[in-house]
Amino acid sequence: MSGAENESEFRHLLDWLTKHTGLKFREDQHRHTMTTIRRLMKTVAVEGFAEFRYGLGRNPQLLSDTIDQLTVGETYFFREHQHFEFVRQKVIPDFRVRSGHHEPIRAWSAGCATGEEAYSLAIVFTQEHTRSTILATDLSTAAIEKAQRAVFRPWSFRGQASDAVRPFVTESGDHFTLSQRIKRRVQFQRLNLATNTYPSSANGTCNMDLILCRNVLIYFGAETVREISRRLFECLAPGGWLITASGDPRLVEHAGYEVVACDHGVFYRRPLNAESAAKTAATGRSRSPASNDFDARHRATESLPAESLPAKTPFPPPSHPVAKQVASLTTSNAGDDSGGASLLLELADDSDACLAQIKLVAATDPSRALEICRTATVRHPLVEELHYLHGVLLVDADQPLMALESIRKAIFLNRSSVMSHFLFASIQRRQGQYVSARKHFRRVCELCALGNPNDVLPMSNGETVADIAVAAQSQLSRIESRRDP
Ligand SMILES: C[S@@+](CC[C@H](N)C(=O)[O-])C[C@H]1O[C@@H](n2cnc3c(N)ncnc32)[C@H](O)[C@@H]1O
Repeated sequence: MSGAENESEFRHLLDWLTKHTGLKFREDQHRHTMTTIRRLMKTVAVEGFAEFRYGLGRNPQLLSDTIDQLTVGETYFFREHQHFEFVRQKVIPDFRVRSGHHEPIRAWSAGCATGEEAYSLAIVFTQEHTRSTILATDLSTAAIEKAQRAVFRPWSFRGQASDAVRPFVTESGDHFTLSQRIKRRVQFQRLNLATNTYPSSANGTCNMDLILCRNVLIYFGAETVREISRRLFECLAPGGWLITASGDPRLVEHAGYEVVACDHGVFYRRPLNAESAAKTAATGRSRSPASNDFDARHRATESLPAESLPAKTPFPPPSHPVAKQVASLTTSNAGDDSGGASLLLELADDSDACLAQIKLVAATDPSRALEICRTATVRHPLVEELHYLHGVLLVDADQPLMALESIRKAIFLNRSSVMSHFLFASIQRRQGQYVSARKHFRRVCELCALGNPNDVLPMSNGETVADIAVAAQSQLSRIESRRDP
């Protein structure tokens, strides 16, 4: 077979996989995908891509193994532990107010891999004395079988909060067996999220009070994400919550979700009633963060020298008309401590005005600016620059962990933001979290490689794409050589 024929068979195979699983295959990763598939073909003694495709259609186990290899079933207990705190502090109390103490909360871990996520939920519900039914589904039968065995290796406990699991496991060498008490709280099932099989009372996916669908949507193309988003919305009971991972695509445009941003992250909710749904839809669309215009007029939030975290430089004077209006109002309020707060109330519906005001106040009173910014992020949860600015102010206030949370939200709202990734990585490097810092510095380099070197970066202090690319490279070299303190 010629190289071109081979390539064409390979593409047919990928198309078939996309059609049947929803998985998308990035062009720049085709070589890696091809190597993985060839390895699988060897194990079943198949030589051609067409024959392998035929085998996939007839052999569900082979399909499951292929999915396993192509997606990383990577997971661990209490991954993004702040999500579980959100469940503890918000989702459960909210549910109790709506449904009382005796009704079981209905939860679903969609794309559960080997079960750590669903079992973490079971532990939270146990600790909170909350009755529950927990459904956990995945496309991979191998992953589900492992999840049902509930025997874990130390690698599953690498998360910050995984100590919470210890009272519920029995250790034997380097194996940890989960107690029956937790295990029996979760029902596992195979379900392909890319198919139209849910919501359905037949597989128990209706009327959910909580859905976790984290680190799964990244594998799908835009159209599949849209459909999954709509279907998950339909699976939620009114007032039910959907939690995705901070690196997942945004879902707000696809269905009537309410978006709630708080200290624990950004979360989606099916509104309790149709009226609030309409309001949410209107708010969600009135300002799309992805298309926010972070142009030069608002760029001056901080200075980011290559070798350190942002310096505590005052924000430059406002140039935007709204900012000028704010400046004059603020001047007329000089000496009045409540000026910032009342001004914020006056201009609260205009996030540009909030941004301008915060920058202005930050030049003279950073702690007041921080307070105003915190309020503004609650008022405008979808405005990326407010979360970014909040992060910058928190860094200046020496609160790096809170700053990371804010920048995480900014990244959630715009995953291509060079400045957010750069600031996030800089803070993490300072915190000694080199693996994640490296990942985000690399992302900065990738994003910069796509841009024009002379362009000034949105939200920067006038730095160009080339400036930040050089700074990120320098930080990466420092991390690689581990000359960090
Ligand atoms: C990275 S793991 C995420 C595990 C867990 N949710 C977490 O965040 O730690 C991704 C999982 O998505 C599953 N997956 C991929 N495509 C899927 C599909 N079409 N339907 C259901 N699950 C799928 C994979 O089998 C894998 O177990």
